[in-house]
Amino acid sequence: MHYPYQITSYEQYKAQYAESIANPEGFWANVAEHFTWQKKWDRVLEWNFEEPKVEWFGGGKINVTENCLDRHLATQPDVPAIIWEPNDPELHHRVLTYRELHHKVMQFSNVLKNNGVQKGDRICIYMGMIPELVIAVLACARIGAVHSVVFGGFSAQSIADRIQDAGAVMVITCDGAYRGNKTVPLKETIDDAMIGCPTVKRIIVVTHTRTPVSMIKGRDLWWEDEIKKVETHGNPYVAPEPMDAEDLLFILYTSGSTGKPKGVVHTTAGYLIWANYTFVNVFQYRPGQVHFCTADIGWITGHTYIVYGPLSAGATSLMFEGVPTWPDAGRFWDIVDKFKVNILYTAPTAIRSLMAFGQTPLMGKSLTSLEVLGTVGEPINEEAWHWYDEHIGKQKCPIVDTWWQTETSGTLISNLAGVTPSKPSFATLPMPGVLPALVDENGQEIEGNGTSGNLVIKQPWPGILRTTYGNHERMRQTYFSAYPQLYFTGDGCHRDENGFYRITGRVDDVLNVSGHRIGTAEVENAINMHSGVIESAVVGFPHDIKGQGIYAFVIFQGFHDDENLTRGDLLATVSRMIGPIAKPDKIQFVNGLPKTRSGKIMRRILRKIAEGELTSLGDTSTLLDPLVVDEIKEGRL
Ligand code: PRX
Repeated sequence: MHYPYQITSYEQYKAQYAESIANPEGFWANVAEHFTWQKKWDRVLEWNFEEPKVEWFGGGKINVTENCLDRHLATQPDVPAIIWEPNDPELHHRVLTYRELHHKVMQFSNVLKNNGVQKGDRICIYMGMIPELVIAVLACARIGAVHSVVFGGFSAQSIADRIQDAGAVMVITCDGAYRGNKTVPLKETIDDAMIGCPTVKRIIVVTHTRTPVSMIKGRDLWWEDEIKKVETHGNPYVAPEPMDAEDLLFILYTSGSTGKPKGVVHTTAGYLIWANYTFVNVFQYRPGQVHFCTADIGWITGHTYIVYGPLSAGATSLMFEGVPTWPDAGRFWDIVDKFKVNILYTAPTAIRSLMAFGQTPLMGKSLTSLEVLGTVGEPINEEAWHWYDEHIGKQKCPIVDTWWQTETSGTLISNLAGVTPSKPSFATLPMPGVLPALVDENGQEIEGNGTSGNLVIKQPWPGILRTTYGNHERMRQTYFSAYPQLYFTGDGCHRDENGFYRITGRVDDVLNVSGHRIGTAEVENAINMHSGVIESAVVGFPHDIKGQGIYAFVIFQGFHDDENLTRGDLLATVSRMIGPIAKPDKIQFVNGLPKTRSGKIMRRILRKIAEGELTSLGDTSTLLDPLVVDEIKEGRL
């Protein structure tokens, strides 16, 4: 069986693509017909990239959970919606059918309501990868509350920043989370965050690791106790809140060029349709298949391709609590065999790290259930692509290289599995509705094939971000001011002689470390918090496994003891301010930074030094003190 809007041949792709560009309103109205609306839209699209303003399906009323749960409850209640594999392979996995998931979402929707949550309230979710995370997210959507999921690796300070920015009234968390051989004390981190978060009135805590936690009277409640209360009242049905198509569905914070992460806002109808449409088409999902996206729901990939895309399509979505290398580097492959996974979607960094273990972890693994492989999050190098193709896909599974961003809500450029051509390390062709272009530094469009430039998108697709929470001007500045009338992605891109796109990486001050997006300015701000730091500059450098590593140049005053201990102090500072994911791989102490006469740090030079390109630093004559460059070169780590 195919979905009515599933593209099944290259010819059809070309025709659909052409139609989507010529007549976007008609095209997306046809797709939208296949969703459950409480009231049909009045206008398909209104937009201008000046303000910027984008509205899809204006006047329509729709609830995402009705599309993810209720409509499948009627037709396929016993199909597994979520299969959950725990961190520890010795423990039992869990399966939630559509009926069970619906039931649990009703329960937790009641809990939210009993605790005073209203439509439009913001709720921070800081949990490990357990089914309750999906239940919490969907319960928010059910009653019209706006979720802001914060990745479990962020520090108390980062959580507090996000809670304050969103004005969240509730936090949903766990006592702790398991990751490999570690237990992460999530509730404790939330307690630390709470010191600066007076808007939070309630914290609901799921029991998972039984890590001791301090439950504060009047504020903190156990998830299980709240569910029991609901059950004693018969767990009443919670009607799906009628949401305007453009009502907020969620906020997800992501890093940019400034020191402060921004809350990317996605709204209801456009997000749902984009998540679903891209899921069904990119992976060529067929009902009955098991889809395994290895991302964390704390990132956009998990939102779209573990939760909303698969569930809105009635698919079976596998979620995994643990890490690929524990108890051993065969963990993913065991999971694939155990659940007969058909679609595996992971990040190049995971592929490279597993590749480094060689063939042994693959011994005795069948992997024959696999039909489609996917990658996301960073450019995939050809070596990793071929390893994935040969050793995991056994050269019979198409690999989709999906390029997209937190801001785009789902894939914008990718081949469609087995339907459109693939090319190693190329994302290839745009999805219907996506009109990419390459521009030079002056914003001039670079036409023709066999060329490179900065990647922009010329018209809105249903899943484009609508604003940055609480600060619309920031959205305009960040995405629509570099090139007037164009959405600027921040990525560099090559278009080959056939018109296939290959994303080459960020051209702004955003790093991509193991697929995690981190702003250099954020890391600098964190380092600068240390009392001995005078100034710092952070750049990326190529890293075999992580894709990019973090290299910090630091001017430091007053070493207490040896430099390595001070390095440790700086790492601890970054962990506290952002989280362990942002810890620099290298810290070089310097006496000065290369600056122009106007005081601007010449990052280009530092980047070259970090990359080891010491002979081609370019013009250094405009520097205030060219000698610092020699010193930095000599001290390079
Ligand atoms: O640089 C691009 C890279 O990841 C950035 C977006 O990061 P984030 O918002 O965290 O979303 C990641 C998951 C979608 C992009 O600007 N990126 C993402 N996918 C690819 C990629 N780079 C190359 N190829 C990809 N397939």
